[in-house]
Amino acid sequence: MVIPVAHDFICPWCWIGLSQARRLRAELGVQFEWRGFELYPEGMAWPPASTAEKSNRPPTPTRYDLALAAEGLEPVKGPPGMRTFRAHQALEYAKAKGVGQEYLERLYEAYWKQGLRINDLPVLKFLAAGLMDDLDELEGAVVDQRYRSEVVVFDDPAYAAGVYNVPTFWIGGERYAEQPYSVLKQAVIAARGDSGATGVYAGLDFNIPKDRPFVFINMATTMDGKIITGKRDEPVMDLGSKADHATMRYLESCADAVMIGAGTLRATPNIRFDDRLLRIVVSRSGDLDQSHAFFKAPRVATLGPSDTADWPRTLSMLKEKYGVGRLLCEGGSELNASLFRAGVVDEVFVTQTAKLKLGKDSPTIAGGEAFPRESVERWEIVSSKQVGDEVFLRYRR
Ligand SMILES: NC(=O)c1ccc[n+]([C@@H]2O[C@H](COP(=O)([O-])OP(=O)(O)OC[C@H]3O[C@@H](n4cnc5c(N)ncnc54)[C@H](OP(=O)(O)O)[C@@H]3O)[C@@H](O)[C@H]2O)c1
Repeated sequence: MVIPVAHDFICPWCWIGLSQARRLRAELGVQFEWRGFELYPEGMAWPPASTAEKSNRPPTPTRYDLALAAEGLEPVKGPPGMRTFRAHQALEYAKAKGVGQEYLERLYEAYWKQGLRINDLPVLKFLAAGLMDDLDELEGAVVDQRYRSEVVVFDDPAYAAGVYNVPTFWIGGERYAEQPYSVLKQAVIAARGDSGATGVYAGLDFNIPKDRPFVFINMATTMDGKIITGKRDEPVMDLGSKADHATMRYLESCADAVMIGAGTLRATPNIRFDDRLLRIVVSRSGDLDQSHAFFKAPRVATLGPSDTADWPRTLSMLKEKYGVGRLLCEGGSELNASLFRAGVVDEVFVTQTAKLKLGKDSPTIAGGEAFPRESVERWEIVSSKQVGDEVFLRYRR
């Protein structure tokens, strides 16, 4: 998915927008097409300096202060009063050379963090070093205004293009201007067609612990708590509805890595995950068919008994070595039990279907060894929502 974004380097809201775009790219794998909209083109006067008198009122945060804080960004101040036409020309040249995203990031960082005047040619060339081969050609493109028609200026031309604020993200045919991250993320998910899931767990945002990933489990059960429909070594995709499957994909989109037990792997020949996710399988025997669809992915890791004997250590390794901030475990019963026993599960998502399976040996969400009465754990329900004949439950430890 490629999302067009109307932006201008000097707009403080675009500094937030860049951070949001980075997160959307990391979490949902979307790409961005940055379109230059110049806020203060040649001839447009700068806004007058504020003449508000100091009052005795304690200061309250502005909408921008709140948006910065929500994005976890430090307050920053770029150099004042700058036109950006040449910077946009240079970015268009970088896009034509296939390094648009990298150059855009450099320009924003240079402006907002170092206070550089990024509309000056020497600065534009300095920031292009190592990214583009021919800096004289870059200069030529800027001086000749080769991409003049690509840059839209405020006010009227921008308004005619439907842009009243920067950033404006176009997602699924709608415009999103100066919106919080959760709104953008939800819009992307809805636009991608995972809409069955959107009403259930909208805009999930997890607090990642310092020393390990945030660990969450997602499972579907029958009304009698079983997690299978056929036999234990068979797939179970016929248990949940389309809404459940969409929810599963949505939860995967909220993760950096997905982990399953070898039993689930063997039982599900047609398993599929987005290639963005690190795939992790846990096995004691090491008896894993390497031709399985699971292994046809750029990033796969296998954990053995020495890893799972010390989950806290292994989880912190996953965070440090693989950059896993949010780890989704999709079962089965034995792997879940091992994580619960180690006390490393933060949340559990359960889709309870209105189906009945029976069977004293049919697995449930977690098998393993039972807790004694005095150690039975209490969890809290974060949310519960009925969709059709299913209840979507979210628990927190
Ligand atoms: N309803 C749902 O949401 C859902 C979700 C997932 C799975 N399922 C179903 O659940 C069934 C599979 O569940 P399951 O409990 O039998 O299997 P499982 O937990 O997926 O896998 C068990 C196997 O994983 C390995 N393993 C598990 N914990 C381990 C640990 N702590 N250390 C090292 N290895 C570990 C072992 O592999 P080795 O055998 O290689 O030693 C073990 O035999 C399947 O029928 C599947 O379709 C349902």
